[in-house]
Amino acid sequence: MPLLNDRTDEILQQDRHLVHSFSDLHSLTEEGARTVISSAEGAYVFNEQGDRFLDGMAGLWCVNVGHGRHEIADAVADQLKTLDYFSTFYNLTHPSAASLAARLTQMTPSNLNHVYFGNSGSVANDTAIRVLHYYQNRKGCHRKKKILSRIGAYHGSTHLAIAMTTPAYRTGWESAEEYVHFLSSPCAYHHQDNMAEAEFCDFLLDEMVRDIEKVGAENIAGFIAEPIMGAGGVLVPPGGYHQRTAQVCKDYDIKLISDEVVTAFGRLGQMFASESVFNIQPDIICTAKGLSSGYQPISATFFSDEMMQVVATSGNRFLHGMTYSGHPACCAAAHANLDILENEKICEHVQSVGPHFEKVLLGLKDLDIVGDVRGSHFMMGLEFVKNKATREYFDEEVAIGMQVSKHAQQRGLIVRPLGAMIVLSPPLILSREQIDEIAMTLRESIIATMADLQSGGL
Ligand SMILES: Cc1ncc(COP(=O)(O)O)c(C=O)c1O
Repeated sequence: MPLLNDRTDEILQQDRHLVHSFSDLHSLTEEGARTVISSAEGAYVFNEQGDRFLDGMAGLWCVNVGHGRHEIADAVADQLKTLDYFSTFYNLTHPSAASLAARLTQMTPSNLNHVYFGNSGSVANDTAIRVLHYYQNRKGCHRKKKILSRIGAYHGSTHLAIAMTTPAYRTGWESAEEYVHFLSSPCAYHHQDNMAEAEFCDFLLDEMVRDIEKVGAENIAGFIAEPIMGAGGVLVPPGGYHQRTAQVCKDYDIKLISDEVVTAFGRLGQMFASESVFNIQPDIICTAKGLSSGYQPISATFFSDEMMQVVATSGNRFLHGMTYSGHPACCAAAHANLDILENEKICEHVQSVGPHFEKVLLGLKDLDIVGDVRGSHFMMGLEFVKNKATREYFDEEVAIGMQVSKHAQQRGLIVRPLGAMIVLSPPLILSREQIDEIAMTLRESIIATMADLQSGGL
């Protein structure tokens, strides 16, 4: 365990100048931040007092190879000493970006041989849409600009990415809504009619076709979909959904964008989930997080040969660029991270222990308030309800996910509260014992929450 000085009070004072992401800024002004995480090792993080927590979120779905890997830190340091920075603007390049582009496009589905690097998942998705719009313009399809997205989706916080994100995330904010048309969430648990899986899938596909006809395929550029929706609540689509929506996209000449910001680089046991897990070949794949396991900010948007041929015809002006696109240190981190994923066979490990993780979490369904347990491999969620039979939720003020997560944190486990849910997306290196430890801690935390609810008359 690392030796730490307790500087918590000082840090919390300094933190009052920090604008936090996705937070209630008023409460933060009144109460300040609570948890200071100061160091990390393997699957664990430590606070200033040296208390240890199992990182059930892998940071934010990103620390796939686990914390504290010196190989990545060393690769970044070596790169900075050799070439600290240079751009990939115009006709300039450098070894780190060029070699990473070649390496990654060997791993993608065979039609995706071109990559643009950014520094976040939001930028990866914005890049996808900017380039897609340019592609449509180059083809003379100037009206073909709308994007189909889905209720429950999370695609990021830049202006365009948030427009494609489920409307609940935008309350009180402006967004480029004119570009987006929403289809239903593909999560059966949330659908009131309690349909069988195949029937629900038919319902979703009928709606998709109906809406395309309504909006007009001549106005629709693309369909963006996470293979499994993450921040929306680990929403797993019915079997066959991705293949069928991919076919509809083909039929209507709509480009398929797979947002693999969470699912790529091992979380579902494959480097990329689109083809290997869901048997689809998107026109664009967006990735970030697990590409460097969060050690450096880097994202990658992959484009098909067909798209790039249109985009790169004579007379094009690719007016898209970011200072830090293909930053040498970020590319070095990604290379070192990929080395670990490959050499330590982390995808194979996830394939082997992922089903065990699913099984032990499903085992929590015997608890009265656990309505649903869903997800796949290292991307799981538990949804809490007041009444299992009717799927009645607790009132929002109960903040049930937060209550369970607080109890878990007191017991040394960090999970992500998400409304009526908690989400688990741990580092991919967990052993079976650590998986069992998570299940046991959750059971205790849920039972403690139920006791609180009972004593509060809920
Ligand atoms: C599926 C998905 N897409 C995009 C993003 C945005 O990524 P970033 O926060 O790096 O901008 C996220 C973030 O969680 C995500 O889960």
